[in-house]
Amino acid sequence: MSHIGSYDDRLKNFSWNISEKELGYKPGDVINIGWYCTDRICQMGKANKPALIWEGSTGPEKRYTYNDIRLASNTIGAYLRGLGLQAGDRVCLFMDKIPELYLGFLGILKIGEIAQPLFSAFGDESLFFRLSNAEASAVITQKKHVPKVRKILDKLPHLKHIIIVGHEGAAPLKEREVAFNLEKAGPVDAFQIHPTMAESPSVLHYTSGTTGMPKGVKHVHYSLIAQYLTGKWALDLRDDDIYWCTADPGWVTGTSYGIIAPFSLGVTQCVLDAGFQAESWYKFIEKRRVSMWYSAPTAIRSLMKAGDEIVKKHDLSSLRHLASVGEPLNSEAVVWSQKVFGKPFYDTYWQTETGCIVISNYPGMEVRPGSMGKPFPGVTGVVLDPVKNEPYPAPGKIGLVALKFDWPSRMRTYWNNEEAFQKKFRGGWYITGDRARLDNEGYFWFAGRDDDIINTAGHLVSPFEVESALLEHPAVAESAVVSKPDPINLEVVKAFVTLKPGFTAGKDLDLEIMNFIRKKLSPLAMPQEIEFVAGLPKTRSGKIMRRILHAKEWGEEIGDTSTLEND
Ligand code: WTA
Repeated sequence: MSHIGSYDDRLKNFSWNISEKELGYKPGDVINIGWYCTDRICQMGKANKPALIWEGSTGPEKRYTYNDIRLASNTIGAYLRGLGLQAGDRVCLFMDKIPELYLGFLGILKIGEIAQPLFSAFGDESLFFRLSNAEASAVITQKKHVPKVRKILDKLPHLKHIIIVGHEGAAPLKEREVAFNLEKAGPVDAFQIHPTMAESPSVLHYTSGTTGMPKGVKHVHYSLIAQYLTGKWALDLRDDDIYWCTADPGWVTGTSYGIIAPFSLGVTQCVLDAGFQAESWYKFIEKRRVSMWYSAPTAIRSLMKAGDEIVKKHDLSSLRHLASVGEPLNSEAVVWSQKVFGKPFYDTYWQTETGCIVISNYPGMEVRPGSMGKPFPGVTGVVLDPVKNEPYPAPGKIGLVALKFDWPSRMRTYWNNEEAFQKKFRGGWYITGDRARLDNEGYFWFAGRDDDIINTAGHLVSPFEVESALLEHPAVAESAVVSKPDPINLEVVKAFVTLKPGFTAGKDLDLEIMNFIRKKLSPLAMPQEIEFVAGLPKTRSGKIMRRILHAKEWGEEIGDTSTLEND
């Protein structure tokens, strides 16, 4: 049994007011996430409690108390204000998982600007689309990523400032670039936090679309109400926890549960700025005495592959609770975790658009391995009949995962794309784009996505974005991008390509095209396989039918092909 009571107890008389009360917030009050995550925790007597313990890939460590993160976020906020940036401006964070990413995020929110975190492995084209779409005024980045920004600068008239952190002055600064050193800037104690209100925009995360380019998901400061309570009830974060969220704040898990939830709860969290490696992950848990661990199925599958022996070499007795997000968590992984760690991974389901966990397994609730769990109290989740656009009258059938659009951290719209936002609704329900079925006890069982988006290692990749980038390669005439199965990453990107006259298929060309995409978009979006074909299946109206290619890759029935041109 958990310290927060059973799931059924929580359902009774639930109101988001519980969270508002705990946070001391009343409708109509000023609400600023940056303040709640730092100043408030200090005012509660935890100024000297460790907030962030950071470890770099080569082992250096930096430690920040709640007072330190309060002061550092003030410093960054004051610096951005000094540059003339104003509330509502978009400031992009384009960094590895270094402390300035976490502190910068809070500083941006404190001055009422909108934080736009982007994954630092993005290539120049991925970066360009997102910066340009958001009309970002500034980007905070590291010296090593500056070349990617310089490459696209001419096409970004709105981008006034490129703020380079930790810049040691080796290379001369160019147009619009400024160097910022947090340590040298010194702490700023007296600071005026911008009086943001519930509906003031806070965070802009970009997510993949099926038919179009990525969309900016707009969140507001009121999201805190849901992120705080789900952090407490779904992740079971406690005051004495050492928490480790393995996600990168370039993606929503890394901000909602890698910054906002733990800090607003006054929890100590640690960050490892290094890629995946089983040995170093176990060492990190042992050294940091991690008690709550939030990770993802691809990482868990990789750990399973590394074997049980390596687990036994480490003292992992500090682990109290484990949770997972981002992809379906197969039952084998849950069973394995119970065997080697003595506790299961609790699956949690949500999206960039939902801002918080919406369906989950909770401490105190029986875990059904392979199931995503039940809706969070205060969230109405159903499985919708795709024909009638209403919930199935009885459980058992696979349909669309749909939510009543009324919880605090729901997205408010897609940035400059209200039309795409409106398309997310059917019969008054918000359509997640996922399919699932319900069992008799109300547990959700994931059945797959309802669109062409590729989920590789928990990262969503838009086939449209990859296809558009492929067309920029001189040899490519047409392309279709689908997923193919992968034992560790669940899915990887595969491209079917027809060539322009004068080009011949071959090993060199396929490697060249792969590299081209890796640099332009990211290593995640890079096709793991390119198949050169003479033609692509199309509808009579000329639209490429990814569905046919997808079915072949997954060994599934092809289904209705009556609209095919060349069948
Ligand atoms: C998928 C990540 C199965 C799903 C927080 C969703 C999952 C998309 C799960 C959102 C889960 C996330 N089981 N699938 N527990 N969690 N997904 O926007 O397809 O990067 O719609 O947000 O990931 O991915 P996003």
